[in-house]
Amino acid sequence: MKNILAIYGSPRRKGNTTLLLKRAVEGAREAGADVEEIVLRVLTMSPCLEIYGCKETGRCAIKDDFQAVYDQLLACDGLMLASPIFFYTVSAHTKILMDRCQSLWVKRYWLEKTPFGKKEFKRKGLFISAGATRGKKLFDGALLTVRYFFDALDMELWNSLLYRGLDFEGDVLKHPEYLEEAHATGRRFFHALTGHDPT
Ligand SMILES: Cc1cc2nc3c(=O)[nH]c(=O)nc-3n(C[C@H](O)[C@H](O)[C@H](O)COP(=O)(O)O)c2cc1C
Repeated sequence: MKNILAIYGSPRRKGNTTLLLKRAVEGAREAGADVEEIVLRVLTMSPCLEIYGCKETGRCAIKDDFQAVYDQLLACDGLMLASPIFFYTVSAHTKILMDRCQSLWVKRYWLEKTPFGKKEFKRKGLFISAGATRGKKLFDGALLTVRYFFDALDMELWNSLLYRGLDFEGDVLKHPEYLEEAHATGRRFFHALTGHDPT
């Protein structure tokens, strides 16, 4: 059994990325995945304080809800991360989580001394995002950030679902084809983790 962690990074209860990730989770579960969900907006998580309390053990020294998330991030085989685009990058909720994962970066590169540029990732990540506008570069900033975040988690960016022209809460419901794609991608993600594609 492969287990997947799904992280919701929208501040909205029923945000566009929330609905997309929910469909991906349903697809993965239908395919047989064990999926745990984390909604960042309901957690109490300090930003990184840059004190490097993590440098002895690779564990963040700030005692808040991140501690449980850290364990889940280490335990999962695959991560589905959803965030809206805020000023050409991920939401603040998502970025706070990423910065707290500096502890995992420290674990990987300082404590375990993994060489930089090593590319044999054991785990996989899926990124789901939405923005209101339609510019060619809308997702460039977030993709760079997500790629290096996944690297710190020892994960490759397996795929990303990026949707332009979604602004108000629920706008994605006008595009059932986006939700269908998310659902199918959730299934495929599980198959990519297991190395078994029945189609
Ligand atoms: C603080 C803030 C910053 C935003 N910045 C951008 C932006 O840089 N580019 C863009 O196209 N949309 C931007 N948006 C719009 C959101 O990306 C868009 O509404 C998205 O669908 C929200 O996804 P969600 O419903 O999952 O939260 C911004 C919205 C907010 C509230």
